[in-house]
Amino acid sequence: METTSIEIQHLYKTYSSQNSQVKALRDVSLSIPEHEIFGVIGLSGAGKSTLVRCMNLLERPDSGKVILGGQDLLALNKKQLRLCRQKIGMIFQHFNLLEQLNVLANVCFPLEIRGIPARRRKEKAMDLLQKVGLADKAKAYPSQLSGGQKQRVAIARVLANDPGILLCDEATSALDPETTKTILDLLKTIHNTMGITIVIITHEMAVVRDICTKVAVLDDGAVQECGNVAEVFHAPKSKAARRLLLMGDKEE
Ligand SMILES: Nc1ncnc2c1ncn2[C@@H]1O[C@H](COP(=O)(O)OP(=O)(O)OP(=O)(O)O)[C@@H](O)[C@H]1O
Ligand SMILES: [Mg+2]
Repeated sequence: METTSIEIQHLYKTYSSQNSQVKALRDVSLSIPEHEIFGVIGLSGAGKSTLVRCMNLLERPDSGKVILGGQDLLALNKKQLRLCRQKIGMIFQHFNLLEQLNVLANVCFPLEIRGIPARRRKEKAMDLLQKVGLADKAKAYPSQLSGGQKQRVAIARVLANDPGILLCDEATSALDPETTKTILDLLKTIHNTMGITIVIITHEMAVVRDICTKVAVLDDGAVQECGNVAEVFHAPKSKAARRLLLMGDKEE
């Protein structure tokens, strides 16, 4: 499986409605090398989800560049973009599983869309369920699973497309600390065995501390500081980072 770098250059995004404008991203630049576990941390409303949606062009930035594995996403045509997006996996806070399908069918779904033959997709899906520790739940439906188990299914499903990069938007925010730890451990294992670049979007310092090597602090749509996790946590330079650190201490 290939791993992918991602480069964000001078990204701007403003949401306009009749009588208001929100500058959700203001000149955001980030360089995430391949094979990194990179954190983006910020308070609610900082622009984290907007940034992650711009990373795969679910949202089109007003200006700036998104370069994935050397490819300028904004320069691609529709077909090229569709192919490129297959390399970008995303998991969310609320899992987004298909409730009417069982676990195995959920993981098979992206393979079906890609036209993989039935037998092959079942093999691959079972293999992925094994990897996330849920092979025994293949026949269960999402409503019969715990939050942590649902997120494991979502992870297996996203891996079915062999992504080079995995974007995780508050993937553990709906889970208790214990379950959060098991999901982060799973992401670490995936990172170690498959080498995928992982971007962790979160408002929790503990998550960044546990899994990321580098972190960018986002506040009010702009990157306030960026560096090695140990450095940023030990000697935060920005007000935003200090505020997040104080909040993290209170939680612990
Ligand atoms: N579709 C939209 N239309 C208008 N404004 C939006 C839209 N999406 C986000 N915003 C605004 O942009 C800003 C950034 O929102 P965003 O969802 O990116 O923040 P976030 O950091 O992900 O917050 P949270 O931690 O609560 O998920 C907020 O002020 C939000 O209200
Ligand atoms: Mg968000």
